[in-house]
Amino acid sequence: ADQKVYQASTTAPVNIAVVKYWGKRDPKLNLPTNSSVSVTLSQADLRTHTTAACSSSFGSEDSLLLNSSPQDVTGARTQACFRELRSLRAQLEASDASLPKLSPLPLRIVSENNFPTAAGLASSAAGFAALVRAIANLYELSSSPTELSRIARQGSGSACRSLFGGYVAWQMGEKADGSDSVAVEVAPASHWPTMRALILVVSAEKKGVSSTSGMQITVATSELFQRRAEVVVPRHMLKMEKAIKEKDFEAFGKVTMMESNSFHATCLDTFPPIFYLNDVSRAAIRAVEDINTKAGKVIAAYTFDAGPNAVIYYEEENTEAVAGVLKSALGNLDGWQGRDIKEQASDNLDA
Ligand code: PMV
Repeated sequence: ADQKVYQASTTAPVNIAVVKYWGKRDPKLNLPTNSSVSVTLSQADLRTHTTAACSSSFGSEDSLLLNSSPQDVTGARTQACFRELRSLRAQLEASDASLPKLSPLPLRIVSENNFPTAAGLASSAAGFAALVRAIANLYELSSSPTELSRIARQGSGSACRSLFGGYVAWQMGEKADGSDSVAVEVAPASHWPTMRALILVVSAEKKGVSSTSGMQITVATSELFQRRAEVVVPRHMLKMEKAIKEKDFEAFGKVTMMESNSFHATCLDTFPPIFYLNDVSRAAIRAVEDINTKAGKVIAAYTFDAGPNAVIYYEEENTEAVAGVLKSALGNLDGWQGRDIKEQASDNLDA
């Protein structure tokens, strides 16, 4: 029998939302209650590298190694990604008999993050995006990034946005089957070359409440959440896409901060409440407020995901006034790391 090993590799970057995804209308398909927008960080700093291989010599089981440790692939999320990709490959094989029959072969996936997985830095987003893209390359699928985003979404919602570089929108969609809940490019990173992101790792501990269970309790108990999903986010989506297109940092920064605040307010309004921010997070918020007050306009913007670590956006010309001042204001905390997103290209996933 053919024991040949077929393989392909790719990388996918971390993305940080500036309009947040929080809430599922369909937990099985990861269909969100609202649209969202993210900024992709530089692959030089934060990315997952993944190799996907398949061979009849691999035994009978699929497997996944992340940073050298074996992961469970039997979960519904990973299985959904494998199933969708295998079915696309099977369609190709059915239409062209000369293609090797890869779809039935066991998959062996090897992933490495170039950042601490435990730091709560959206590792699942880069992880599932890289996994889907690597298998799509292995299977030589001609799917577009948007088509692959529909599959990556089923692994982890935010992963659908990591199929693109730059500024990316995840359109919530309307259909029950999720076929229109996909990511699209708002602008490539090259559109706004002065944009910078600084990451403050407040804590490298694993987050207290996972995003999946946090969202579920928020949707079930918070009335504030209803208003956020129906009124606040649609308004923020329009303002954010306009701010990005016009490279209007003040508008971008204001919506980014109000979005983060709105998301964390719904976490506090969850019963029992969810606390993702801590004292150091709040000190970072105050330091950004001071910087903006002193500048007389918004030159820095904070955002926080499901944990205490801050991401601060600013423009290159304000590096000293933002990154320099934040470092001295917040003392000699470990983990201050500047992340340059200047070089990020829109087609940053090697095909
Ligand atoms: O994709 P998940 O299930 O890890 O959820 C991500 C949720 C936030 O990071 C808090 C917001 C977002 O849009 O990325």
